[in-house]
Amino acid sequence: MNIKTLSEIQEEAANYITGGMSSSFRANFFTGLPMYATKAKGPRFTDCTGKEFIDFFMCHGAVILGHDRYEVQSALHKAIDKGYYAGFDDWPTVKLAKRICESIPAAERIRFVNSGTEGTLLALRLARGYTNRNMIIRMDGHYHGCQDYLFANNLASKIDASNNGSRRSKTIGRTAGVPEAVDSLVATVPWNNFEILEKVLHEEEGKIAGIIMNVIDYNNGVFLTTPEYLHFAQQQAKKYGIVLIFDEVLSGFKTGVSCGQGFYGVTPDLCVIGKALSNNVPLGVVAGKKKIMDRIMDPIDPVVSGGTFSGNQLGIAAGNASLDILMQEDFYKKFLARTNKFYASLKTIFDERGLPAFVQHLGAGFHIFLGTSEPINNYKDLNRVDRELTRQFFTICIENGLYFHTDFTISAAHDDSTLNEALEKLDRAIIKVKN
Ligand SMILES: Cc1ncc(COP(=O)(O)O)c(C=O)c1O
Repeated sequence: MNIKTLSEIQEEAANYITGGMSSSFRANFFTGLPMYATKAKGPRFTDCTGKEFIDFFMCHGAVILGHDRYEVQSALHKAIDKGYYAGFDDWPTVKLAKRICESIPAAERIRFVNSGTEGTLLALRLARGYTNRNMIIRMDGHYHGCQDYLFANNLASKIDASNNGSRRSKTIGRTAGVPEAVDSLVATVPWNNFEILEKVLHEEEGKIAGIIMNVIDYNNGVFLTTPEYLHFAQQQAKKYGIVLIFDEVLSGFKTGVSCGQGFYGVTPDLCVIGKALSNNVPLGVVAGKKKIMDRIMDPIDPVVSGGTFSGNQLGIAAGNASLDILMQEDFYKKFLARTNKFYASLKTIFDERGLPAFVQHLGAGFHIFLGTSEPINNYKDLNRVDRELTRQFFTICIENGLYFHTDFTISAAHDDSTLNEALEKLDRAIIKVKN
């Protein structure tokens, strides 16, 4: 078989894998084609046609330390050498749990799972089991994984755009296969809106088990909240006896080891982490208040949390190796100084070439909005973005060897010379798209 292009690979793969990809989110947002990669090292990967890219996707933001980081790779080898997994916890499991409890404010107790999705599912189950109530409040546009309760309204492209902020949002973007009964257990509200949150909590008093939100919304392009809003959600949750859940699967370790909750200084009742915790080796964590987590061990009516691969030793080994690096005293100081310098240079090249753009960023995550020079503060502001220009620009970047997908991430392996090379390529893409 003499396969040359990504389309040809997809065509061949589609004979066996539905759509030719293992995750429907693997199709590139700008080119429409799934990517196939054969090798990854540091800040780069090589696709199955042999083309090399500087990677700003970093596997959905999970590879905070760079691909194939030596310390993580060697921890994985050691885990395999020791017979890797008999289906039981080991001392490294306890060590990692202790370090998570020491670094993440919400973590009094934790449970390991295998993915972010599994984590948000368990967090909702815990909230329901703890409160004996069924309804969940979620934020319009926030993504929480591939799970039935939180599919609708799960991206900025699926928000209730007709909502002027005076009411709860309608269910948008329902997914085939999810019963309407499931959606009816979820009340969706616009994020950062104090009044609607308060109104819905009042209207549904006694029915709401949990409020879930992304504390930093990297999925849609680095949208932020305020400590005031998070404090308000915390107070309201307390007032109504509701469990406040922060989904930190993507925001975790992007600003520091205390994650988004440490950045904002507001501690939720439960949180979910994953991805960067283990530098992209499957692992997830639900962490939270002891009294809520203890429902898992209730002798009469426990909230069930379990699974064959929960706390798998590859994820645990990668988690410990990653934290060894992330917890180094000056890690974030140096890393975030480099990312911030890159964002400033990025803004300069757009300004110098006269292409209207806004670089929105926090910590290791960023986004480039084209067609506007003003901040994109909320999802409605996305209407100011020039979609066709965006598609053309990032398609050129990909042709030039810079890989952008949905959310954009810089890893610790993106050193100055890689970032300078990226800036040169971005500059060339700006010139090309302007012509
Ligand atoms: C905010 C957020 N929550 C949950 C998830 C689901 O995590 P996973 O893909 O590991 O199941 C993701 C994945 O992109 C995410 O970005």
